[in-house]
Formats: sequence, structure tokens, C-alpha cells
Amino acid sequence: MKKIVIHGGRRLMGTVEVSGAKNAALPLLCATLLCPGEHRLGNVPDLRDIQTVLQLLETLGATAVNDQGQVRVNADQVVSVEAPYDLVKTMRASVLVLGPLVARLGQARVSLPGGCAIGARPIDLHLKGLEAMGAEISLDHGYVEARAEKLQGATIYFDIPTVGGTENLMMAATLAEGTTILENAACEPEIVDLANALNGMGACVRGAGTDTITIEGVEALQPMDYQVMADRIEAGTFMVAAAMTQGDVLVANADPDSLEAVISKLREAGAEVSLGDDGIRVKGPQQIKPLQIKTSPHPGFPTDMQAQFMAMLTLAKGTSVIAENVFENRFMHVCELQRLGSKIRIDGKQALVEGVDQLLGAPVMATDLRASASLVLAGLAADNTTEVSRIYHLDRGYERLEEKLLALGADIRRVSVDAS
Ligand code: UD1
Repeated sequence: MKKIVIHGGRRLMGTVEVSGAKNAALPLLCATLLCPGEHRLGNVPDLRDIQTVLQLLETLGATAVNDQGQVRVNADQVVSVEAPYDLVKTMRASVLVLGPLVARLGQARVSLPGGCAIGARPIDLHLKGLEAMGAEISLDHGYVEARAEKLQGATIYFDIPTVGGTENLMMAATLAEGTTILENAACEPEIVDLANALNGMGACVRGAGTDTITIEGVEALQPMDYQVMADRIEAGTFMVAAAMTQGDVLVANADPDSLEAVISKLREAGAEVSLGDDGIRVKGPQQIKPLQIKTSPHPGFPTDMQAQFMAMLTLAKGTSVIAENVFENRFMHVCELQRLGSKIRIDGKQALVEGVDQLLGAPVMATDLRASASLVLAGLAADNTTEVSRIYHLDRGYERLEEKLLALGADIRRVSVDAS
């Protein structure tokens, strides 16, 4: 078991490179199931979730080789259509094999993901969409089974703009007969990345990045050769780290277009944010100003940045209000932030964060991926020592986080719990 130990109070300075986006790489890797051949995907981050999806592809019969972020998947042989419980329960995004498997092989059997730390997160909208495309859906011993000899194009309206649902159905529709229109689709940049890769494979996807996506089904696809986009959430996390340590950090290769809400809220908090060809530079203010934040689907403020902003706002001069509108149980970092001396009160979907002058280091426990990032950020700004345990959550989604922060001047290290 490892933990991260931080001696806070250092200003972060310098340049940091962001890795490839986890949330783009996962659907892209699932899309390799759509057609036989050797697929190539570059800029794939080295993360636990990536290892899980590669393991899943191998369970299905594909072969995968990861050579320092250059991943080759051979999908000639897909001999199984079952995504087993053991893999799906460790990573919900495993359900993204559903659409590609039904589209290519006419059937899929995928374990239901069940609840997760940040809420119920059902997949009913993925299933409703596949049903509208002519798939027969049944439930068997905790598994969803979907069958369709040939999927048919359909017009599908999402009650909620779901990222995974939009990706699953977009992939399924590439090989369907006729035209599929996804209405009230999610607009996240990772969906645009997936659409670009699919079009490179010979698919015909239009409108990705807007709430209406049209997919003309094609007879066959060819293997992908694609570079994963930069991770906007990792970028945003470094930007907050700079802002809350009165730092001055250039987040190289961050894409400002995918971070508009984050940039705008950082400026409102008093940070100086400049956009250049080389990335996004953030200079932290002397004093953080309080904010009103409401998470919502893209282009709104991302729920995946809520915990990090909360860590920053614990040090604001005044009271901030954060409304979490995407997931129902995404305030688990609050109790841990309180251990560092922050003043936060939860009122239903809202958290009221009353800024304090200083946080005081303490042992804390990560509860989910972005929550763990918020604890690291708080530790960077806190007095004395903060120890973050259960960092396997962090390793799901941040590549070499402590190394990157160390290079920016943080006093941070990963230690074995026994050795400490
Ligand atoms: C993706 C991201 C995750 C991010 C989330 C919201 C990946 C791998 N994960 O998760 O990091 O926090 O988008 O930006 O890309 N919902 C339903 N029924 C469904 C599907 C979703 O009710 O069939 C609800 C969910 O419970 C949630 C909301 O819709 O309240 C949004 O979820 P969704 O966009 O699907 O999130 P994910 O794709 O799971």
C-alpha cells in the first residue's frame, strides 16, 4: 500500500505537460472492437483504467500491446462478447464495449455496473437507445444481454445528455443500417475526439460537439490510427494547483477551447490566466475570491473539476456556493477537507464553503478519483504535512501526478505505508 506525503506551503512554478485524456482514450480503445485489423492509438496515458480496458479487450479475444503510450490493438479475433463483472465493477467505462460488440457481432453480454462511489449512475439510456435501434435487451444474472442481427438507424432523444450513452450509441450507429440521429446528445470534447477517430476509420459522423449528432451507417470500417487529445481535467487540476499556491505555472499543450468554464471561474477567483500557443499560463492571486459554481454538462462547469475547485475555495476570502447537478453523491471529499480545517456545510445538492485563512495538514483518505486530486491540492496549500491514503483512486486517472508536481517545486512523495 502506498500513500502520498505532502509538506505544503510551496509555490508551484514552471511548466507541466498534460498527458492524453483518460476519458477520451477509454472509448477510443473500445471502438477498436468495431472492426478487424491492427489499430494504433498514440498519446495513451499510463493509468490503471487504461490497463483495465486493455485487459477487457484481451478477455474478448483482441490482443493489445502498450509501448509507452503507443497502443496497438489487433481486433481480428473477437471470440467472446462478455464483459465480466470483475472488470466492469472496477471500471464503469467497460460498458462502452456494448455498442461496438452489438454493431460488429450482433450480440453483447455486459455486467451491469451497479452503484459507484459518486452515485447510482444507471445505463438505462444506453439500453433504451440500443432498443430503439432494434436490439433486444434482456437481463440475466446481473448481466445485460443485447442482440440484433443488424442494428437499424433511429432517432434517439436522451432524457439526460449522457457522455457514455452518447459514445456507446455513436459507435453502435456507425455500422447500423441507415441514419441515426442522437438528440440532446452530450457535447463533451471527448465525444468530438471519438467522432474524429471514427470518421478516420471510414464512419460518417456529423455534429459531434453539438447536441444533435447524425451518423450515417456504413458497410465496414477500417482500423484506426489516432492520437488521443490532451486531458482537460488533468490540465484544470494543475491550473487550480497554481492558483491556490500563488504559483506561476504554464500548463503546456492544454487546450483552452475545452476549458472555457474552468478558465472563466479561475479568472473570477482572481487568478491571471493567459492563453498562448504553448499552453495556458496561470498565476495565482494573493487572495482567492469566493465563487458560485454550478456543475452541468459541457460546455457548463465540469463535475470532474468540482472537488478541485472546492479545495481552492476553502481558502477564499468569503463564502462560496457549489451546486453539484450531475451526480447525486459527489461531496465525499468534504469530510476529508474538513479534517484539514476547512469550513464546509452540505445542504442537499449544495456545498457552502466558508473560506479560512489557513488549512492545517492531516492524514486524509481518498474516496474517488477527483476527490483524491482535491486532497492533494489542499495538501499543497496546507501548513505542515498531509498524508493522502488510498491513492489507487488517483492512479486510475492521473499519470505520475506526484512526479509532475515535484518538478513544479512541490514537496511531495509517494511512500510505502510500511516504510513510512
Ligand atoms: C463520464 C465521465 C466522467 C464524468 C461524467 C460527467 C468517462 C469515462 N467518464 O461518465 O468522468 O464525470 O461523464 O461528465 O468519460 N445517467 C442516467 N442514465 C444513463 C446514463 C447516465 O441516468 O443511462 C445519468 C448519470 O447517473 C449521471 C448523468 O446521467 O447523473 C451523467 O452521466 P454520464 O454523462 O453518463 O457519465 P459517464 O459517461 O458515466
